[in-house]
Amino acid sequence: MPTLTINGRSMSVDAANDTPLLWAIREQLQMTGTKFGCGAGLCGACTVHVNGEAVRSCQTMVGDVAGKKITTIEGLSAKGDHPLQKAWIAEQVPQCGYCQSGQIMQAASLLAKNPNPTKEEVVAHMDGNLCRCMTYSRIQKAIMRAATEMRTASASGNERRPT
Ligand code: FES
Ligand code: FES
Repeated sequence: MPTLTINGRSMSVDAANDTPLLWAIREQLQMTGTKFGCGAGLCGACTVHVNGEAVRSCQTMVGDVAGKKITTIEGLSAKGDHPLQKAWIAEQVPQCGYCQSGQIMQAASLLAKNPNPTKEEVVAHMDGNLCRCMTYSRIQKAIMRAATEMRTASASGNERRPT
């Protein structure tokens, strides 16, 4: 029975090592913020972080991430106030909302490494995360807004720790 470290908590899952992480997160641990879209690594709805890197949890097996640091949308911020989450609200990004937790997790992995991305870098990093509602322009604006807030917080010594 693999033991996973998710959002800072150690959790045992009753699953074979070749079970997709997405299944363990949603079905066994009932953490439903991470979404099932294509199940084939093509849409990004299932994006989580493993050791700070954005990965497709539908294509990541639980046996490969035991002992690693996994972060889901529920753990991105204890109070739901990550700069990206605040920017998403300010820019009114979501439409149906289904893709958005994956979009935010993908964006968070960019800003953790590059706090001052160009628009081209944002577009390139977000390229594999699909949105059937076509919210792409608002996503890009929200990422730039969050980056600005994070740089401002960093300059004032009030920066948050990367996930
Ligand atoms: S559900 Fe994982 S990439 Fe689409
Ligand atoms: S907001 Fe509907 S799929 Fe992205």
